[in-house]
Amino acid sequence: MAVQHVSVADFRRSAARRLPRFVFDYLEGGAGSEAGLKRNLDAYGDVAFLPRRLVDVSRPSPAVSLWGRSHAMPVYLSPTGLNGLLRHDGDAMLARAAARAGIPFALSTAANMSIEDAARAGDGEKWFQLYVIQRDLAQSLVRRALAADYAALILTVDVPVNGYRERDIRNGFSVPAKVTPRLLLDGALRPAWSLAYLRNGAPRMRNMEADGAMNLEAQAALLSRRMDAGFDFEALKWLRDLWPRPLVVKGLLRTDDAAACAAIGVDAVVMSNHGGRQVAGAVAGFETVAAAAARLAIPVFFDGGIRCGEDVVKGLCLGARMAGLGRAALYALAAEGEAGVDRCLSLFKDDLVRTMTLLGAPDLAALGRDLLAPPAAPAPAAIGG
Ligand SMILES: Cc1cc2nc3c(=O)[nH]c(=O)nc-3n(C[C@H](O)[C@H](O)[C@H](O)COP(=O)(O)O)c2cc1C
Repeated sequence: MAVQHVSVADFRRSAARRLPRFVFDYLEGGAGSEAGLKRNLDAYGDVAFLPRRLVDVSRPSPAVSLWGRSHAMPVYLSPTGLNGLLRHDGDAMLARAAARAGIPFALSTAANMSIEDAARAGDGEKWFQLYVIQRDLAQSLVRRALAADYAALILTVDVPVNGYRERDIRNGFSVPAKVTPRLLLDGALRPAWSLAYLRNGAPRMRNMEADGAMNLEAQAALLSRRMDAGFDFEALKWLRDLWPRPLVVKGLLRTDDAAACAAIGVDAVVMSNHGGRQVAGAVAGFETVAAAAARLAIPVFFDGGIRCGEDVVKGLCLGARMAGLGRAALYALAAEGEAGVDRCLSLFKDDLVRTMTLLGAPDLAALGRDLLAPPAAPAPAAIGG
């Protein structure tokens, strides 16, 4: 009998059953002790709602407007690399599901589909996420994203080097997978995934295949996440000049950094600790939203540990404009493919609408700090400059 998925936790359980251990660990794992991973999930529980009553909530709308365009809800699919390892064609499945749900899809530099092919997957808004490995290569990726009509560029700045991901190290994680007795056993226990992998071959870093030899080096750097660690605010100015459309900086945790990005002319920031995958002891993106939103005039996005519509609403009450989904959508992709992502996004939308209705907030403009219980709400001045 087909499993009924009524929550992200259900999708997660199904993903763990379908994926070999080394793939599930890649998806799930965090840096070091994984304290950051846990902190991301726990942060929402520390904030409680204070619902408003006797308001007309007969026609609630979660629609959001961003850079002159309207989206069905204040949620986007955050960029994730190696989606093809979870499902063959995983990038396209996510892009099409996002389009059907009326939300933006962000393609990672480490995608298994090229910028050009992904642009044609579904008719929704596309954002391109940039990892800077070499400046020349970055420039060529940015030009391709512009030519393929991506609406926004997300620069990820929290990976100057890779986080210490113990699960991946223990598993000898690599793509293509190194065949060891343990891997063969792992694969034999997950036949559906293994057959699909054998049929389709190992997913490839499609965005690194365009310009020949230089990119062999770049592919290796991307897989081990060896980025341009010299990239600084001066370099950000260079990128700002290259990209004429909305530019988003992802992976900030300090208000002073966010303010410096805004001063350079960045159009939005993502408060994020990269799903707990970089610094084990870092603060959660969610905990830094209030301070950043209080100081900045540009939109503040956040991600990390978002597993239901209530989590999104809490971030919006603290001043965020949009919420990014990472693992939530990936569990659904791994568990049930494209139909799973459709179902996951409709669970998010239903929960958002229900929560807004129950809080007495007919639209997103009605979401504010007054809907959160004061003692539990993080103080705005707590973090960063
Ligand atoms: C498997 C996986 C791959 C990821 N790959 C990227 C990536 O290529 N680029 C990037 O900016 N962030 C990447 N991230 C981080 C996500 O964009 C996002 O910040 C994070 O997953 C949010 O936390 P959550 O998974 O708890 O929702 C990745 C996250 C995961 C789980």
